[in-house]
Amino acid sequence: MNIILIGLMGAGKSAVGRSLAERLGRPFIDTDALVEEQAGRPIPAIFAEEGEEGFRRREAAVIASLRERDGLVVATGGGAVLRPENRAALRSSGVVVWLEAAPEVLLERAAAQGVKTRPLLTGGDPLERLRRLAAERDAAYRETAHMRVRTDDAAVDEVVARILAMMEERGVKLHG
Ligand code: S3P
Repeated sequence: MNIILIGLMGAGKSAVGRSLAERLGRPFIDTDALVEEQAGRPIPAIFAEEGEEGFRRREAAVIASLRERDGLVVATGGGAVLRPENRAALRSSGVVVWLEAAPEVLLERAAAQGVKTRPLLTGGDPLERLRRLAAERDAAYRETAHMRVRTDDAAVDEVVARILAMMEERGVKLHG
């Protein structure tokens, strides 16, 4: 069983994923990093050269391959839930946890890492873009998630603790 984190840019998927993986002694993977590795270039270059469509095609291939893997903690890109086949693959690949936060908080975190690494946040008012993406994607996140965790007010360790508590409550077996 994999643990898969979904949510918008800046929700904390990578930071929380890394920490959760460490806590559980599981390997951590990041679908954005796998896309970059397989493309041999960073995400902004993929968007520039192949368009968003090219990136989505690569992302879908990485997500489909998760079905063959087990025991991982997986951080996904914010748009991983856009394609119906991705939503189905994510749900059947493990327990899907939606990390949620207000757009203002997302922007603060994304800006701390540099919005330049996120092509969908450049060339306009990034807060406006995040609000729009949140509205557009709400139904897709809802459909894909098995559980949701708010991260606005919480540090990484606290979010990890919330996820572990929620899994225990629901009888999700994390070891063995
Ligand atoms: C995207 C989010 C990014 C990355 C790409 C597109 C999106 O990942 O996959 O820039 O569509 O929301 P993060 O959520 O890790 O920033």
